Amino acid sequence: MSQATAPSYADVVDLTRYPINDLDGDRGRAFIAACREELLRTGVCQLSGFMVQDAVDRMVEQAIALAPSAFRTDNTHTVYFESTDESVSPDHPRSAQQRSAKQTIACDQIPMDSPIRRLYESDDLVRFIAAVLRKDKLYRSADPLDAVMIAMFEDGDELGWHFDRSEFAVTVMYQDADEGGHFDYYPALRSAESENYGGVARVLEGNSDGIIRLTSSPGTLAIFHGRHALHRVSPTAGAKPRINSVITYGEDADMRLNELTQDLFYGRAE
Ligand SMILES: [Fe+2]
Repeated sequence: MSQATAPSYADVVDLTRYPINDLDGDRGRAFIAACREELLRTGVCQLSGFMVQDAVDRMVEQAIALAPSAFRTDNTHTVYFESTDESVSPDHPRSAQQRSAKQTIACDQIPMDSPIRRLYESDDLVRFIAAVLRKDKLYRSADPLDAVMIAMFEDGDELGWHFDRSEFAVTVMYQDADEGGHFDYYPALRSAESENYGGVARVLEGNSDGIIRLTSSPGTLAIFHGRHALHRVSPTAGAKPRINSVITYGEDADMRLNELTQDLFYGRAE
């Protein structure tokens, strides 16, 4: 089916390779099937070159221009983002502390005509993400800060080992750090039935068996099952920051962070 007019994000996505504007056609259906298969097999669906280079370059420029007004966090937390369990030994996963340090640029700081904002506003992308995740319907986040964010990891920054509280995450990569800043993950380390504390403890002790290190080039869109996969961004080094976006969807309309979480992630509540 041909489109009457080019979508408003036509200059952002490589639609020849990734036909998110034609999901009902033969190519679109085959594309979704391939994404589902990769997500099922590896816990992540990675689409390299999804965002075209010109748009990636603009995102890097915008992120660096916005960096002075970004919110810096540097704190420790457990892999569950829950309060430390004082009843277990300090090296138990419910107690062991992970460090996360990064800068965040909130949605309301990113210009509306930015490539990532125009991509996020497209119904085609929402439909595509829902189809890959086998959801009947997904909604864009209604959160003015968290719907689309940019994360910057500068020299020495990192995102400690953790499980996401949400079922899935969608990210777009813009720039690698000079060194480090790798995305490491252990797919399906826990499940709805088992927390597998022994397996989690082995990773926290530094055992790398079963860990996958993802290489993701600038422009890669990733759909990741992060609730059951333990994952981190390893410490970065060098002058060039790692820059990516996390874009948020949910199964309920009007999804927002509470004010406490907004303040924690962005240093203010809106
Ligand atoms: Fe995560």
